[in-house]
Amino acid sequence: MTLLQALRKATQSSHQRLEGQISKEEVTASIDAYALYLRQFHQGLAACWLQLDWHLLAEWGLPELSARQARYHALTDDLHALGHPVPPLERGLRSERAPSVVGCLYVLEGSIHGGAILLSELETKAGPLPADTCRFLSGFHDQNRYYWKDFVSWLESLETGDDFLEAASTSAREAFEHFIAAFAVKSPTPVVS
Ligand code: HEM
Repeated sequence: MTLLQALRKATQSSHQRLEGQISKEEVTASIDAYALYLRQFHQGLAACWLQLDWHLLAEWGLPELSARQARYHALTDDLHALGHPVPPLERGLRSERAPSVVGCLYVLEGSIHGGAILLSELETKAGPLPADTCRFLSGFHDQNRYYWKDFVSWLESLETGDDFLEAASTSAREAFEHFIAAFAVKSPTPVVS
């Protein structure tokens, strides 16, 4: 089994649970609902963020690292623009656990698919949003597929064994749990920086 196959198998049911928690109709019903979605996502992301050792990912040759990193910081910027300030994402820690970093990043990078669906529905209902409020969901714009494919190729190029697959799968499941917990709370406490 490849790393990608292992991650997909390990997280399929978690993704289904999470998708079941997020109502596209509700999220795209109003700007306030959209802002709430971003706050909930931020909560999940912040919980995952400390796992992400960007130095290690650079050493492992993650393609387009800066652009990927910038997409996550754009979430904080969008929330500021929407009037829901949240603290910036903290600097990640150094990690010796490459499989955990990779498993967690898989979940975060994969979230670009759902984001594109939500943004498209939001814009169909409400028209184009101010550009500074949807930088995160816009991701890499018409390059989203390319960035995902490049990520997957990188993932598949890593030299891994069974232990790596198992640890990365555990980490990916844990990352989904952070999001499932964040989306279970319908009114996250506003955090003002
Ligand atoms: C309403 C919300 C969401 C919808 C509608 C949605 C939908 C999708 C769709 C359609 C795909 C498959 C894309 C493709 O292969 O062409 C996908 C993949 C994925 N999504 Fe979501 N998603 C949502 C939320 C999330 C969230 C919040 C996360 C993580 C925090 C997430 C993580 C992933 C991952 C990791 C994949 C990659 C699976 C793979 O191909 O290996 N999704 N999603």
